[in-house]
Amino acid sequence: MAGGRSSAAGSGGRADCPLDDFGPRTWLQPEAVGYGRLPMSTPLGRPQVVSLDGPWAFTLRSRPEDVTRDDLTGPTDGWARTEVPGCWTMQGFDTPQYTNTTMPFPGPPPHVPDDNPTGVHRRRVTIPEGWRDQRVVLHVAGAESVLYVHVDGTPAGMGKDSRLPTEVDLTGLVVPGEPFELALTVVRWSDATYLEDQDHWYHAGLHRSVVLQATPPVHVADVHVVADHDPETGEGHLDVAITVGAPGAGPRGWKVEVEVAGHSAVADVRFAHPTKHHVNVAAYQGPGAVVALPVPGVPAWSAEVPALHDLRVTLLDDGGREVDVVTIAVGFRRVEVRGHELLVNGRPVLVKGVNRHDHDARRGKAVTPASIEADIVLMKQHNLNAVRTSHYPNDVHLYDVCDRLGMYVVDEADVESHAYLRSLTKDPRWAQAILARVTRMAQRDKCHPSIIMWSLGNESGVSPAHQAAAAWLRSFDPTRPLHYEGGITEDVYSGVEADLAAVLARPRAETDVIAPMYPSVDDLVAWATRSVPDRPLIMCEYSHAMGNSCGGLDAYWAAIRTHPGLQGGFVWDWVDQALVQVLADGTERLAYGGDFGDEPNDGPFCLNGVVATDRTPHPSLVELAKVVQPVQIAAVDASRGLLRVTNEHDFLDLSWLRPSWVVEVDGSRVGGGELQPMDLPPGESVLLTLPVPSPVLGPGQAAHLTLTFRTIADLPWAPAGHEVAWEQLELARAPGAASAPPPTSPPSSLAASIMDQLESTLALWRAPIDNETFGTHHARRWEELGLRDGAALTDLATTVEDTSGGRRVTHAVVVPTGLDDIPRVGVRLHVGPGVDRVEWLGMGPHECYSDRRAAARVGRWAATVEEWSVPYVHPQANGNRCGVRWLRLLDAAGAVLLTIDHLDDLDVTVARVPDDELADARHLEDLAARDDCFVWLDARHRGVGSGAVGPDTAPEHRIGPGTYRWSYRLS
Ligand code: GAL
Repeated sequence: MAGGRSSAAGSGGRADCPLDDFGPRTWLQPEAVGYGRLPMSTPLGRPQVVSLDGPWAFTLRSRPEDVTRDDLTGPTDGWARTEVPGCWTMQGFDTPQYTNTTMPFPGPPPHVPDDNPTGVHRRRVTIPEGWRDQRVVLHVAGAESVLYVHVDGTPAGMGKDSRLPTEVDLTGLVVPGEPFELALTVVRWSDATYLEDQDHWYHAGLHRSVVLQATPPVHVADVHVVADHDPETGEGHLDVAITVGAPGAGPRGWKVEVEVAGHSAVADVRFAHPTKHHVNVAAYQGPGAVVALPVPGVPAWSAEVPALHDLRVTLLDDGGREVDVVTIAVGFRRVEVRGHELLVNGRPVLVKGVNRHDHDARRGKAVTPASIEADIVLMKQHNLNAVRTSHYPNDVHLYDVCDRLGMYVVDEADVESHAYLRSLTKDPRWAQAILARVTRMAQRDKCHPSIIMWSLGNESGVSPAHQAAAAWLRSFDPTRPLHYEGGITEDVYSGVEADLAAVLARPRAETDVIAPMYPSVDDLVAWATRSVPDRPLIMCEYSHAMGNSCGGLDAYWAAIRTHPGLQGGFVWDWVDQALVQVLADGTERLAYGGDFGDEPNDGPFCLNGVVATDRTPHPSLVELAKVVQPVQIAAVDASRGLLRVTNEHDFLDLSWLRPSWVVEVDGSRVGGGELQPMDLPPGESVLLTLPVPSPVLGPGQAAHLTLTFRTIADLPWAPAGHEVAWEQLELARAPGAASAPPPTSPPSSLAASIMDQLESTLALWRAPIDNETFGTHHARRWEELGLRDGAALTDLATTVEDTSGGRRVTHAVVVPTGLDDIPRVGVRLHVGPGVDRVEWLGMGPHECYSDRRAAARVGRWAATVEEWSVPYVHPQANGNRCGVRWLRLLDAAGAVLLTIDHLDDLDVTVARVPDDELADARHLEDLAARDDCFVWLDARHRGVGSGAVGPDTAPEHRIGPGTYRWSYRLS
């Protein structure tokens, strides 16, 4: 698809292309950002709406020039059907394409390929008779990448900016009760694509809803609410600017009434511009009214307490009759940057955030309201309080949900010019597009309390256009700080190592927060301790969650909790962007870049989610939830049950959570109980003494105390009993080896032969995880070292001793100098067929590694071999468990096949396939299902880090030369 002949503006083309009604080849004119579009405004819910979602007649032309007038009004017999909202790239036409920084086609800007898929969507529409004398507006919430609107063949509007609506006034073009032909033509590639060069899938089509709305001719056109809350006095204050639309000069004597939380105010509507010389024209602010309203005693909005109120704006005619009524949800709150702190309602909140792309495995960019809500609910359930709409404005539903459920939002403009990072945004031809994208976002989203910062975009350098956009935002909305990573990293991109002083010396033009990408913990601490922080540091991206990743999250949060000025950040990113692909034989697989023949592509680099494509949490999300949990629990003297509990909320006390505790010996409960809820105020700590028993421990046994906080009541985002925070502390551990308890059922008849045929080989390698294939390139180094075959590099000394309880095996190996930083030191046992389930004592229940085990707890766990593994879409090492002290393999009937105990806190992996096969597979489907079982018993196993983009595994979680010994008992 890419790489075809390219066209320059003005050359070639058909004589009568109806898309030229808006100007010659506007898809190649960066200055042409829209035509006939209504000014962007706050979405105002109104009763008179006709949804145009559903099936549309559809035809795909190979080039915009191939669209004919007949396509817009002629018969559509024989055309295909496409679902709106939807991407045609997910409906059997054309293909999706994934690239990171690379443009999907060759430049230079604004050239696009001649082969430029162009979809004509057609529908015959009749608006209700009741809409006679009303104003009729078409709202197209999203079109990638240029939209052309024709009504009965008449040009009505054009718009770029794929992730924001285009609204066109159809009054006069359509007659209620009489059918008309609506044609929405979408051109896939355009000059706008250069500003939408984010790291995600390129699709095409109408990926958000299409609706028709009716309003009275004189109507509320826009509402701009500033709902402030003074943290000192607790008073709310509302400033509402209402724009009133009217044909012509507008009538006289009209009023607006504003009501919220039992308070109301009325103001006169000013329509026509005053022309009489005795009137002060300078005071005229346009058609509308401004209302200021104190709202004493109103509760503040925050992500923890999302107090929302309905604001009703009523337009009254000169006889006091209601002409138009709109309602929007408002939340009173104040956001400010003071010194090095970002304050919400006067409190320095910690930003526990994640970056989120719109993504659906079957629908591409066309995400449904239900899936948006499910995402935010899942984030709340995992203790996250913030989302960055990376890297474009989302569907309005997301902001409504965040307002309602409580989530801070960084709203990001659709501006990324990664392939031309340092040039495109400085090209004045794109200046108005940049300004339009930023201003239109702010105009649409300005009333949402959840939005705490505006972002100028992502990875597009710094330019006068950014500075113009920043200045516009500061003037239009002084209530929200600005966020833009490009505002601090220009020096880095220019090849000059940015020293902190230089960064700080830059004027604050484009950003009010230091928003770096992927700094190391050391960088963060250096920034916080060496500089005089004049702004908060909030990482716009950190802990790159590609594949098996996110090592060291606990280290980030230890630094954030220790150093004022570090206020958290947004993990990259929320969801694996895999797409369901139907193969020739009718089967399906999860696909990534290149699987659709899309060239160029960036392979599996789109799979960076803390949740899988179907939203199953990856272990990294479970870790994140634990590390950012809002109740911190620390041992003061664990053996005496003395703990310190800290309430890390900013606004809530702890009375919404029920604490309970349990003491277990090797996973079996020996004591515990429930506690009364604690009314501990936000930010405060208390000492807690629990009546823990002192159990008598057998050899190798350990006792653990776990304190848990669960929700008491059902909440909009979690049922009662949902676990919010917990900590597990070791109370005591007896010396000696941990023995597996006697099996509850007789051993399998195969057990003896398994023992006899068990093969063990030295293992120094693992199927590289993405962090080792990309970024750090350890995979290549390990390949060159010959690590795949560890036995060829060094000797494994093994002694086997038959004891009464089983066969005692001891291994020793010298990892020679030169084998620095290797993935593991262990043995692989080939157990063979018949294994169905694993039971173990150790950390779990989910996958954990030495640098990602904060959320793993010691217990007695069970899983099938399949459940033990994590099905990362791009196959790689997975499924490690730390601190394992015994494990047992069972067949499907529950009979024991093999018991391995007396382990000294080893790292253990169980899998159906050996590492070689895993490493060589491109997709999970490449791995044939088989009944086989391998067990790795590792003296050491490397951490995962997040080095695909960002810091490698920390030195303390790497493995180097030296002598390693480990042992276990087989029975
Ligand atoms: C960042 C970028 C993200 C993504 C990430 C790597 O530079 O902002 O969009 O590309 O790196 O996955």
